[in-house]
Amino acid sequence: METLSKASALSRRQLLLGGGAFALATLAPRLSRAAPQTILRAAPHTTQILPGDWPATPTWAYSAQNPGPVLRVKQGERLRVMLQNDLQQPTTVHWHGLRIPHAMDGVPDVTQAPVQPGGSFVYDFMAPDAGTYWYHPHVNSSEQVGRGLHGALIVEEHNPPKVDRDLVWVLDDWRLDRDGSIRDDFQRGMDISHGGRSGNVVTVNGRMPEPLQVRKNERIRLRLINVANARIFGLNFENHDAQVIAIDGQPVTPHKPEFDMVLLAPGQRADVILDCTGEAGSSHRIIDAAYQDEATVLQNIVYAEGPPVRESAPGPAPTLAPNPLTEPDLNNAEHHDITITGGAMGAMQGAVYKGKYLPIDELVQDMRIWALNGVAAHTTAMTPMLNFALGKSHIITVKNETVFPHPMHLHGHSFRVLSQDGAPVPHTPWADTVLLNGRGVAQIALVADNPGDWLFHCHVLAHVQGGMTSVIRVA
Ligand code: C2O
Ligand code: CU
Repeated sequence: METLSKASALSRRQLLLGGGAFALATLAPRLSRAAPQTILRAAPHTTQILPGDWPATPTWAYSAQNPGPVLRVKQGERLRVMLQNDLQQPTTVHWHGLRIPHAMDGVPDVTQAPVQPGGSFVYDFMAPDAGTYWYHPHVNSSEQVGRGLHGALIVEEHNPPKVDRDLVWVLDDWRLDRDGSIRDDFQRGMDISHGGRSGNVVTVNGRMPEPLQVRKNERIRLRLINVANARIFGLNFENHDAQVIAIDGQPVTPHKPEFDMVLLAPGQRADVILDCTGEAGSSHRIIDAAYQDEATVLQNIVYAEGPPVRESAPGPAPTLAPNPLTEPDLNNAEHHDITITGGAMGAMQGAVYKGKYLPIDELVQDMRIWALNGVAAHTTAMTPMLNFALGKSHIITVKNETVFPHPMHLHGHSFRVLSQDGAPVPHTPWADTVLLNGRGVAQIALVADNPGDWLFHCHVLAHVQGGMTSVIRVA
């Protein structure tokens, strides 16, 4: 982003030196107040995902990078991004987790017209909350995200905690063939009706993970972002006391994750303080144990020989300053229910689809086999499932009547996760995506303070294809 903003500064100077310098010079004070504009160009690209002696992978990318460039902005400052669509199909950019005005949310046919091939759209908003966020398309997401369109968005604190390194790890998986190409089976019914489209190659920042080289007593802030279509990550930092300091961008009381495992479903983020307390020359594993029977080593933490960065370990993990969120009033909140039905091995009899009730065997023909409150979506421009009074507190009980886990994501707001499966959630973290267990239930609470029609959907993107999207209207 730095180079991009430098480039736009440069072109402005070139303009000033060229013809019409006088007219532009008089405009200059106004121009200089505008935030520099970043360009995200969505287009086909080629990336070496597999090791070097394997074929490269044709992908889709933002600005010729997989993942897309890490965008950085200071909290409260303005971000201007021009999306240029050089794909062969319409697209948009959604700013996942950011509480921004509806018109900037990137949902086709709801907040904007989809950007057609050859077209462009300028996103322009203030970043209200510091933290770790990401961006991705919201059109044909299963394919567009699955082919590589996604990137990190970091909103920097005014007083960031002192760390030796601040690392962004975009966690992903890809379904590749031996020739390096991405399998184009994005319509596969098995994925839509079961656990989603999981890949066979796991990557960190678009590469097969390489050892993390560290030095004794170093403090690292790891910003973990799960951009995968369906895979859940559960990272254990062997022999290390990793402390979670933010969830979905929002600060949380620093704590050791449950079961010593940082659990990240698609869409979710965690900021982790990794204090490197191992011995010089030692090596430790980062184990991905999200799926019980298939624990794998994501990568190793490798300590350099030689003296430590500092005499002793850095001490307790820092507490981040809270973001300006309004606390929901639980005693006076309105209560709502959202019930998830459908999928393979489910008990769903039928659902409303395109305005009329269809039995399950007819839904299956259109592969619309997931429903929220009895409706299987065919578009995002839909009648709201729930209406929330603006400025009021709301508690939603989300009930999963299916056997599959679903990371449910709400646009435009962050919510408190009050309970899961009947048990209170430690620290009642703020989040924008909550992972429902198979047949699980979660209670979330929020103040509906951002007006508009906001999507509430599963972040397993094949499930979205299968109808698992709905709208909550805040008015
Ligand atoms: Cu990250 Cu509606 O999405
Ligand atoms: Cu789902």
